[in-house]
Amino acid sequence: MCGIVGAIADRDVVPVLIEGLKRLEYRGYDSAGIAVVDQQDVRRVRRTGRVAEMEGAAAAEGFNASLGIGHTRWATHGGVTEANAHPHISHGVALVHNGIIENHEEQREKLRALGYVFESQTDTEVIAHLMHHHLKGGDDLLAALQRTVKELTGAYALAVVSRQEPDRMVCARMGCPLLIGVGEGENFIASDVSAIIQATRRVIFLEEGDTAEVTRASVKVFDGKDQPVQRDVHVSDVSLASLELGPYRHFMQKEIHEQPRAIADTIEAVVDGGFSPTLFGANAEAALKDIEGVQILACGTSYYAGMTARYWLEAIAGVPCNVEIASEYRYRAAYANPKHLIVTISQSGETLDTMEALKYAKSLGHEHTLSICNVPESAIPRASELVCYTRAGAEIGVASTKAFTTQLAALFQLTVVLGKLRGKVTPEQEADYLEQLRHLPGSVQHALNLEPQIAAWAERFASKSDALFLGRGLHYPIALEGALKLKEISYIHAEAYPAGELKHGPLALVDADMPVVVIAPNDVLLEKVKSNMQEVRARGGELFVLTDQDSHFSESEGVHVIRTPRHVGVLSPIVHTIPVQLLAYHTALARGTDVDKPRNLAKSVTVE
Ligand code: G6P
Repeated sequence: MCGIVGAIADRDVVPVLIEGLKRLEYRGYDSAGIAVVDQQDVRRVRRTGRVAEMEGAAAAEGFNASLGIGHTRWATHGGVTEANAHPHISHGVALVHNGIIENHEEQREKLRALGYVFESQTDTEVIAHLMHHHLKGGDDLLAALQRTVKELTGAYALAVVSRQEPDRMVCARMGCPLLIGVGEGENFIASDVSAIIQATRRVIFLEEGDTAEVTRASVKVFDGKDQPVQRDVHVSDVSLASLELGPYRHFMQKEIHEQPRAIADTIEAVVDGGFSPTLFGANAEAALKDIEGVQILACGTSYYAGMTARYWLEAIAGVPCNVEIASEYRYRAAYANPKHLIVTISQSGETLDTMEALKYAKSLGHEHTLSICNVPESAIPRASELVCYTRAGAEIGVASTKAFTTQLAALFQLTVVLGKLRGKVTPEQEADYLEQLRHLPGSVQHALNLEPQIAAWAERFASKSDALFLGRGLHYPIALEGALKLKEISYIHAEAYPAGELKHGPLALVDADMPVVVIAPNDVLLEKVKSNMQEVRARGGELFVLTDQDSHFSESEGVHVIRTPRHVGVLSPIVHTIPVQLLAYHTALARGTDVDKPRNLAKSVTVE
């Protein structure tokens, strides 16, 4: 949700800023801009649309400078216009911002009374004017920033440069991610490491409330009380290959195909060391033994991972489990059993609603918290007692794919560990689950091999305006995920229902124009699902059945069947996710939509 990059060097930093913004585009992509300090002046270029358009404008204007900041935007306050794009400038002070300033109206009135004129509808412009106001009062750039942030409420990551001080940039973090890249005689600021990985792997993650001053030769960090602090320098292991497309047409396609590897990496520790509580942290055993139930909190695709886990946790581990959308939970007087483990699931680890739900759960007295996350050092795992990192690698396509299936793999590990601790999983069952996990990457690969058949289905979906997804039990959340993927990237209206609910409403929608996808592998509910399918056929609905070899479906008029090669027991939801991802991807391709950057969406949602 908005990406920030900054650089100070002895070389021209414009290519660094542009490259960084391209890598940050997944965070927001409705407008982009850079500001550079060039011979005692601040020059700025902004454009609505993608970074590439802004890059062309910067090249045409001959931008070249050794200090600059850049921003890629996902609009919140103020529409998508050039005037609302960042950087915002106030009398030679240029500033980029990720987050939302809640008291911007009050600040705006104050600044107007001081004579400041506003050119945009953004909350960000008040910060630029406040900075200038304090600089005019005698502060230097760092002091002005430290004074400014104390007047702001809300969330921010900020980077600021000024024409008065051409040898440094300053930055601040509260509620939104920000790190400093440490180079040789050059330093950087970025929302995430992907933006600067070509320049350096050495990074300092700022803590909440930190401010920092960054010059070519030094980085000085200050805590929320403006006291100098030492923050560790980490060496990032993000690989450049994971940030590049390689032979693929889209990141989503690449990430779908990376799933066998991503799952294998995520389950590596359990395959090597068994279902041990240490998978969730060195001291996890005591906490996991202490719990009486599980409360899962998440948003979007991660929420569907949680819904799947509920079936596992209750059936296999015998643990009561509730799953709730984080943005709902955080505003409700929820019943809190302090012994219920709070499990947050977040690919990015920075989704604001999930973070706030976690804080709220703690305030309600929950004693133990566990984060399942794909981004090391991100805010949610850092605020959690126990952590399990999925090892999906960088996920860049806005629609989540490999993050989801690796979350499921991690949640399955949690299930078996809890089942063991509670005496619900015998050593024989444990060995069996381990064997099933071992085979999972291979089964996912087999499902990927179905791509040509799914692509043929997608041609038929491309001309539809609605679709219905049905599943039961463990596969109902996968139906939800299939519908979400399809609507996110192809813009086809799609809904998912538990198949048994069909007759209570959605059946009224079914006719020959409504394709109905049914996820129906061989499980205890198969016969029930078959009856539900009859209800669709009887109304002329066309069925697209995703199943496995054991379920003995046959094709007939209006009934199309694709089979995964074999039944994989309780891990079946993971395998059946692959075809619904591919269906969405190929339908979007056929419709010509922007697969990796669907309209109105962003990957990382750090606002309410
Ligand atoms: C956004 C993304 C989704 C993601 C959701 C939750 O809406 O577009 O793909 O599922 O946020 O994100 P998280 O990082 O918390 O898993």
